[in-house]
Amino acid sequence: MTSKDNSKAALIDSLNGLLADTFALYVKTKNYHWHVKGPQFHDLHLLFDAQATEIFGLTDLIAERVRKLGGRTLTSIGSIAAKTSIDDSDDTNLDAKGMVKQLFDDNTAYVATLKATKELAGEAGDNATDGIIDDWTDQAEQRAWFLREIIA
Ligand SMILES: [Fe+2]
Repeated sequence: MTSKDNSKAALIDSLNGLLADTFALYVKTKNYHWHVKGPQFHDLHLLFDAQATEIFGLTDLIAERVRKLGGRTLTSIGSIAAKTSIDDSDDTNLDAKGMVKQLFDDNTAYVATLKATKELAGEAGDNATDGIIDDWTDQAEQRAWFLREIIA
């Protein structure tokens, strides 16, 4: 393999990790949309839904970048679970503040993953991924900001 091939393979792998994180963060955000309780219920229920919709909207874009690069992408819940770095959160009694904190941490980690993927896109000379990641990063930073202000 040439170094160009290596860079492309590393980018594809990173995009598939990002895709797995995106699906996992989507489900986690929906989980909190469904289970949040307390005095902030209404606002958080709606915020989590809006964020989940935004996150889900990224999945197809990320997967199709992988295909456009000639790679294979994720195929199943099992492949998502194997690739994601987002921890499960199955305690439905987690309090509202704990949910917001978790999602803040996850979205912050997601920003770091986006930046690492952008770096690899640069190395692979993939201008399209390099450019589109800036929008995904701005969205993730906005989600993190909204969550951060709630627990400030
Ligand atoms: Fe709903």
